[in-house]
Order: sequence, then C-alpha cells, then structure tokens
Amino acid sequence: MRSILLDKQEIEDNIFLLTFSREEKSEIYPGQFLSILHKSREKLLRRPFSILMHTENKISILMKKIGRGTESISEISLGSEVDMLYPLGKPFKENLDNEKTLFVAGGIGIAGIYSFIDRGRNQNIIIGDRDGEFERVAEKLFKDCLYVSERGDTRRKGRVTDFLDMFEFNTIVACGPKQMLNALKKQVQNKRYLAVCEEIMACGVGLCNGCVVKYDDNTFRRVCTDGPVLDGNRIVYE
Ligand SMILES: Cc1cc2nc3c(=O)[nH]c(=O)nc-3n(C[C@H](O)[C@H](O)[C@H](O)COP(=O)(O)OP(=O)(O)OC[C@H]3O[C@@H](n4cnc5c(N)ncnc54)[C@H](O)[C@@H]3O)c2cc1C
Ligand code: FES
Repeated sequence: MRSILLDKQEIEDNIFLLTFSREEKSEIYPGQFLSILHKSREKLLRRPFSILMHTENKISILMKKIGRGTESISEISLGSEVDMLYPLGKPFKENLDNEKTLFVAGGIGIAGIYSFIDRGRNQNIIIGDRDGEFERVAEKLFKDCLYVSERGDTRRKGRVTDFLDMFEFNTIVACGPKQMLNALKKQVQNKRYLAVCEEIMACGVGLCNGCVVKYDDNTFRRVCTDGPVLDGNRIVYE
C-alpha cells in the first residue's frame, strides 16, 4: 500500500512524529502496528511501528532513530511515497476500565501504550525514561502523566517500578524494554498484565517465526500475529 509522508516533527533529538496519508480504511484497534518498507541506499528495509494515532485519512507513528532502517525513514522528505502495511497484529477489542488500569511505558514504549489510552479522561500513566530524552515527548502527548527518570534533575527520580504503589489498579498495560517488562512481572503477579511486545521482527505476518516469545508452559507465541499484546505474567523474559 502506498502512503505519502505528510508531516515530520523532530520532537526531541532523534525522536520523530511522522504522519502519513492513510489509504487503507480497515478498522484499526489498540495495539496494532504497521510496517514501513523504504527503499534506501539500494536496500529494501521493512520496519514495524505501533500505530500511534489515526483518523480516516491520516496515520501517525512516533519513531526513535536507532539504526539503519529508522535513520533512512527519518530522512524521507515530505511528499515522498512509502510502502506501508497495516493494520498488523491481533486487534485488542476489549474496553479497559480507565479507573483501574495503569499504563506504563519505558522510553519509546510510549508509542506502544498510547493507542489504549482514552485521553479525554483521567488516566493512571507512568512514563519511565533512562536519560531524560522523553520528557518533552510525554508533555506533548499526555495531558497528565507521571514522568520519572533515572537521571537528571527530575523530582521523580527512579524507575517505573519504584512508583507503582502510588496507583490503585487491577490491570496493567506496559510497553518498553524487556528488562522493564520483566521487572514489572515480578511486582504485579496478582494483577492482570498486558504486555505490548516489541520483539525484533522479520516478516511481520506470521510466516517466519522470527518474533516468537516463550510462555511459562514452554509454548510459544508470535508477537506479530498472536500479539503484540500478550500475557505479561506468562512470558519468559530471557
Ligand atoms: C510490534 C513493534 C512495534 C514497534 N513500535 C515502535 C514504535 O512505535 N516506535 C519506534 O521507534 N520503534 C518501534 N519498534 C521498534 C522498531 O521497529 C525498531 O526500532 C526498528 O525496527 C529498528 O530498526 P533499525 O533498522 O533502525 O535498527 P537496526 O539497525 O535494525 O538495529 C539497531 C539496534 O537496535 C536493535 N533493535 C532492532 N529492533 C529492535 C526492537 N524491536 N527492539 C529492541 N531493539 C531492537 C538491534 O538489535 C540493534 O542493536 C517496534 C517494534 C515492534 C516489533
Ligand atoms: S515476524 Fe515473522 S512470524 Fe512474526
């Protein structure tokens, strides 16, 4: 599917909000993602990104530039065409109870939880950041959230797991580095834990087994088709 890059904002160094035209009109649900195939430097690269926001005619992602693929996507000029596949991943169709759900993101995991949040209502949201690079991103995207950082002058210094006690919840939705997802698992075993996984992917559509994660009964789940929303209490984080 062809999409045109309509808007590109570098919110912070190496963190981009990219908005594309939306040609495909199938319903999009929280947790779903898209993949971008961009021809660059003679190589074809397909990369997955959470669908941050969408309207009938536009679709946006929040992207952190970390390597070859994201660098080449960050260099796409406005008006250029990309090949985009969406919606991918198992749709999450449940309505979460806003009052009793805690949303937790680590770094670029913000993009993974964003689509679950009803932003018109008060929410329980913790954004964790190692180096302080997501503070402005959190301010831009959320009316109200608890921003915590491991470094810097922040009043809330620490990791997301240091602040869980400030909230009352029975469900947690989290996206971020594996170490964070694993640390949460140890603290929320008596709660429902929806982990939005961002395993490294190849095909993105269930064909290659490149994205499998292990559950505690030695069965496996494909992040791209069984997820990306999986049972965080059952994943074996290795
Ligand atoms: C379902 C899903 C949703 C995602 N959503 C977003 C999003 O909304 N925004 C965003 O910025 N990124 C997201 N990612 C991650 C993004 O796809 C990777 O950052 C990107 O593929 C890296 O491409 P690259 O060519 O720039 O890096 P590469 O050159 O391929 O890799 C650079 C380094 O990053 C590591 N790496 C690559 N992919 C990942 C990954 N998935 N997780 C952790 N480390 C990785 C590599 O091992 C390597 O060390 C998502 C990934 C998945 C699977
Ligand atoms: S990425 Fe190929 S099966 Fe998931």
